Amino acid sequence: MKILLSDAVFTDGTVYRDHGVVFDKTIVEMAPNDELRERYAGQCSELGEGSVLLPGLINSHVHLEFSANRSTLTYGEFMPWLSSVISSRDDLINGCDDGCIAHAVDTMLSNGITAFGAVSSYGFDLDACAGASQKVVYFNELIGSDPAMADALYGNFQERLFASQQIEREGFYPSIAIHSPYSVHRVLIQKALKYAKEKSLRVSAHLLESPAEREWLDNNSGPFQNFFQNFLKQSQAANTVEEFLGYFDDIPTLFTHVVQARDKELSQIAQRGHSVIHCPISNRLLGVGALDLQRLSSHDIRFICGTDGLSSNYALNLFEEMKIALFTHYSDDLPALAQQLWKGVGIHAAEAMGLNCGTIAPNYDADILVTRVNYPINDQLPIHLITQPPRIESIYIQGEHIR
Ligand code: BEZ
Ligand code: FE2
Repeated sequence: MKILLSDAVFTDGTVYRDHGVVFDKTIVEMAPNDELRERYAGQCSELGEGSVLLPGLINSHVHLEFSANRSTLTYGEFMPWLSSVISSRDDLINGCDDGCIAHAVDTMLSNGITAFGAVSSYGFDLDACAGASQKVVYFNELIGSDPAMADALYGNFQERLFASQQIEREGFYPSIAIHSPYSVHRVLIQKALKYAKEKSLRVSAHLLESPAEREWLDNNSGPFQNFFQNFLKQSQAANTVEEFLGYFDDIPTLFTHVVQARDKELSQIAQRGHSVIHCPISNRLLGVGALDLQRLSSHDIRFICGTDGLSSNYALNLFEEMKIALFTHYSDDLPALAQQLWKGVGIHAAEAMGLNCGTIAPNYDADILVTRVNYPINDQLPIHLITQPPRIESIYIQGEHIR
């Protein structure tokens, strides 16, 4: 059993001054340092001034296979970006070998990310994810709107899914991602979701990311029109938004972006118990607009946070993501937003991803960051931790000292 006594524990929106945590693989208790010193004399590690214990951070959306990108892809607007992804895809994918993917996983760990949701397009990140120290929700992605290719694409998806299901390790969860409403044929979606329900798999999908997507799905027009005509000889969107959302009615899903959703769609998202993943840096770089957090909250939808991949980010770092979010949503109340962001990388993310972590409380997995700040701790610590990120001194996952 380990007992860490800190200057502050920050979890679930509360700063507990002079508290410590007792844990094995799971957390036994959190209590005032004085109490723990008495009850566990000689067994406590005193972390000292400026020490802050945090739950390990959860990155709910990343594409590791695109980790080679630095300056290849075109930023500013969604359609030019998507075209650049398609034309540079082979170079980027081939430019990221096992070492490159393992490096991205390790970078996330050094940034305090102890669990992540990896959307895998090809299965090339499987070994690195299987070998990761972190908890991994491994989303095998299904893509393809061309009915002529449906069987082949489903077959390839199934092969990757089955390969991920072969990997036995606690904390590795084979799951399903439906790429988006514009890129997956309904027959494929329905088949994959039926399987997800039968096997109780987690499900994720990109949804209503760009204005171009909105226009294509609503009116079969806009910047996607040329793209689909040239790329797939299609003049009609694979699904309307209403049809697409309806497929997920009885399977709570992690929907990524959702920037362009209307009230009716947000009501359905709320009513069906779905979650929204917010990737503010990606949204800015792809010029898709900013998620309206106040509107989400008026529908009682909690957002969680993701970095997206290095295909639309310059870092895989949730401290950076929270900082950008804090400034993106400048008309939202600062202390309240900081708290929402912390929950979006903590307890709310864990709940949405079906993980037993994200909080420092009895019976949760002991996924804990030992961090240190070089400034006085006060009630506004949740803000300071974002604007002046702490140094991460040690990381525990399921009670094991990882670094
Ligand atoms: C499709 O197969 O329909 C598709 C693939 C990638 C991007 C957009 C659409
Ligand atoms: Fe994504």
